[in-house]
Amino acid sequence: MKRSITARLVLMFAAAALATFTLAGFALHNVLARELERHQYEELDTTLKSLQFWIGAIGSPDRWSRVQARMDTLTPEDGSVRFWVLSDDPRFQYGKGLAEIDGLTREANGHTSAIVLPGEEKPFRTLSAHIGAFEQRPAVRLIVGRNTEPYARTRHTFLTALVALGLGAMLAVAFMGYWIARVGLRPLERLSAEAQALRPKTLSQRLRAQPLPVELSALAEAFNGALARLEEAYGQLESFNADVAHELRTPLANLIGSTQVALSRQRSAEEFEEVLQANLEDLERVRSIVNDMLFLARADRGEVATGLVLTPVAQEVRKTIEFFEFVLDETRAQVAIEGDVLAEARLESALFRRAMSNLLQNAIEHSKPGAQIAVTLREAPGATWISVSNPGEPIDAQHLQHLFDRFYRVDAARNDGGGEHHGHGLGLAIVKAVARMHGGQVAASSEGGVNTFGFSVSRGT
Ligand SMILES: Nc1ncnc2c1ncn2[C@@H]1O[C@H](COP(=O)(O)OP(=O)(O)OP(=O)(O)O)[C@@H](O)[C@H]1O
Ligand SMILES: [Mg+2]
Repeated sequence: MKRSITARLVLMFAAAALATFTLAGFALHNVLARELERHQYEELDTTLKSLQFWIGAIGSPDRWSRVQARMDTLTPEDGSVRFWVLSDDPRFQYGKGLAEIDGLTREANGHTSAIVLPGEEKPFRTLSAHIGAFEQRPAVRLIVGRNTEPYARTRHTFLTALVALGLGAMLAVAFMGYWIARVGLRPLERLSAEAQALRPKTLSQRLRAQPLPVELSALAEAFNGALARLEEAYGQLESFNADVAHELRTPLANLIGSTQVALSRQRSAEEFEEVLQANLEDLERVRSIVNDMLFLARADRGEVATGLVLTPVAQEVRKTIEFFEFVLDETRAQVAIEGDVLAEARLESALFRRAMSNLLQNAIEHSKPGAQIAVTLREAPGATWISVSNPGEPIDAQHLQHLFDRFYRVDAARNDGGGEHHGHGLGLAIVKAVARMHGGQVAASSEGGVNTFGFSVSRGT
């Protein structure tokens, strides 16, 4: 189930409102109950005091009848206020159910909170006082009772109102919470609408971070950062695709052209063989481009060297040089291994030789016959560097930083003129991929007529 921020906010708002109202209502209710109780006792106390004083001065049975008459008139018709006088002498008594009331109030030390008299439904709250003996009258106990039902009703009404109010407030707050959440989340909706409208064609567009609240502008900026990286990668991919198509077009056009020419008239088997031989070279070139591209694509996907073995680097270099023996003889060039010749590194041999031979090939191609080529090994903290240097024309700094990019060549035309090999500009990109697969880096320099291209392999783990 998808969770909605709006729904959650509404729920939380409602819960907060309910909790607040419950607490406040509880406190209010307690205050009211205490006030009501105090009010009842004050009322009882006033009545009790006046009667107490008055009865105290009455000492004969004749005058007692006046007490009875007075109490009769004081007793309201609905019986909400009641009087009792308890006495050992039956002549000085008043009220109904004296025995029960005596039992119910004796323990209560003057007042009771609420008692229910036998035969009555309504609870009474009572207050009592002793009145000392006077003349013929013995000591008596006067009890005043007040029906608490009206108070209970007030409390009940109050409570009902409170609950209704609380529920109403909760609903109101939930409703407002919904509105607040909707308004608050509007920038988010706008943001997602903008993000949804993005297409590969509109990758240069950015989300507008300006009118957004701070919380969201960080998100928008992060998103824009991702877009920028995506756009760059997308751009690289596009130009890469164009480069690939461009690179493949020439050999394919050659193949088609020579095949068409061969087919244009009757030819001998020898002539066809010659054409096929020429075609094979172009086909091999196409294959090598495709292979290199596949290798680079795998490296791009984050593939790392797996068959790492601790190897003396010089040994691997020497074995790579052996493959160039024939070319070196032809150009009378010399290759020397220098520097930390005892260096060891964790390598995947096939990958390392591939990188190494690309560097050597470049060095041979870009130096004059009989040149002195140097392979320098150097142990740096955490990495081993392998560099190939050859005397050659200085390379502009502006080119140097791009030479490891795919299909980048300083001067494509110069290569086309120079001999058998037509570089397609992937050699150094592969060196860089191999370095990365070994946790290393690449570097190039052109100083004092010597051009150096090198890569490192990580020594860690
Ligand atoms: N030793 C070097 N001296 C001078 N320039 C070099 C040297 N090595 C590389 N370069 C320059 O860097 C460019 C890229 O080299 P890279 O090896 O990637 O491609 P390539 O040699 O042209 O083709 P490929 O190696 O794919 O057959 C070369 O075209 C060349 O301009
Ligand atoms: Mg090359």
